[in-house]
Amino acid sequence: MRMTVIGTGYVGTVHAACMADIGHEVLGVDIDAERIATLAAGRAPLHEKDLDALVVSGVSSGRLRFSTSLAEAAAFADLHFVCVGTPQRPNGPAADLRYVDSVVEGLGPHLRPGALVVGKSTVPVGTAERIAGRLAHLAPDAEVAWNPEFLREGSAVHDTMHPERLVLGVASARADTLLRTVYEPMRRAGVPLFTTDPATAELVKVASNAFLATKISFVNAMAEVCEAAGADVTLLARAVGADSRIGPHFLDPGLGFGGSCFPKDIRAFAARAEELGAGEAVAFLHEVDRINTRQRRRTVERARRLLGGTFAGRRVGVLGAAFKPGSDDVRDSPALAVATAVRAQGAAVRVHDPQALDNARAVCPDLTYTLDIPKACEDADLVLHLTQWPEYRAIDPAALAGVVRTPLILDARNVLDARAWGAAGWAFRALGRPVSTLGGAS
Ligand code: UDX
Repeated sequence: MRMTVIGTGYVGTVHAACMADIGHEVLGVDIDAERIATLAAGRAPLHEKDLDALVVSGVSSGRLRFSTSLAEAAAFADLHFVCVGTPQRPNGPAADLRYVDSVVEGLGPHLRPGALVVGKSTVPVGTAERIAGRLAHLAPDAEVAWNPEFLREGSAVHDTMHPERLVLGVASARADTLLRTVYEPMRRAGVPLFTTDPATAELVKVASNAFLATKISFVNAMAEVCEAAGADVTLLARAVGADSRIGPHFLDPGLGFGGSCFPKDIRAFAARAEELGAGEAVAFLHEVDRINTRQRRRTVERARRLLGGTFAGRRVGVLGAAFKPGSDDVRDSPALAVATAVRAQGAAVRVHDPQALDNARAVCPDLTYTLDIPKACEDADLVLHLTQWPEYRAIDPAALAGVVRTPLILDARNVLDARAWGAAGWAFRALGRPVSTLGGAS
């Protein structure tokens, strides 16, 4: 099938490359000419596992092409996936829909009769209906559907090729049939498919993110109680998660969630529910957000206490800048927020990350960065483990003890081996775990 994918960020680039890989003819479109030139040259503009290879093969097969023109997009196909960003508004919690709207305005007048515009962006419920109303003026024969994506950064290609479910929010049987054809290989592989109305599909996405964010904040709230009670949240999470009704996933306690989705999506969801008069139903999301933000403050506080009450004149080595491992994305990164706060309070901070340093430098130019773990920790009075890259689990604590001034580490992600670090002479501290349960570490 011929299709366009409008917006070549994480979602759009991955979707376009995967669609080309399963045999479709795809035109990727973006207003960013530099990004389009990079893609057309067969290079992915972002770090995402397996994406480079798919872009190369798509471009060389001729099935994956790129353009900056919405008029060209409208002429290329009758099926258009809209994958542009929906960030938080600069002056409030609601979603900023200006990019979605500008695609509709730019594409609408050129659409061929019968075109199907399919939103993949995460949007407030009611957006598809609003767009359909606008297209009724711009392109009377066009139709709107919503087909949310659930990909995680770091495994976005895998998640697109092997989704756990497909959700088709459609207003007609024709749109349903078209989208089923798009995803035929996934359907054949047995992926469950849910056909809904567009509003329900929009809500499936935000409800899923809200639930996952709530699970993370729940376990982090338990971490606070554990700290107060002298209990161990990692043991608690394992035992609680063993109940199949609860499940072990997304119960990893630590510094909390960040990234381009969860924080802004729960705020936009609460704002939209309030507009609809259903704000009370999701008021708990404000608390989920507060718990999450508090983890960053608590981590900074804990670090300050570990340093005897002040950061002034202290050197802190920071492990991690990306909002999560496997990604170079630093949008709303808890790690960078902590590193910045620690520096603002007077510490000399050196940050290591295996992938995200360019992006980190662009948003936090005042921090010092290095691609070398020992260099980040050289002469440090404290090491902060803030993003759980596998590289950090592979550190030899004895060797790293040789470069720091004081072997003191705070594991804000609860994944390092406390016993091994303790045995190598480190004072090992972690969020939500008393020193007594850290396997003999002093
Ligand atoms: C998320 C959703 O998982 C995905 O379905 C949606 O399409 C977009 O948002 P993503 O932002 O890529 O994907 O990351 P995810 O792996 O879900 O992690 C989100 C944040 O939660 C990260 O900062 C991660 O470190 C944190 N997290 C995750 C925890 O703190 N604890 C956990 O148990 C799980």
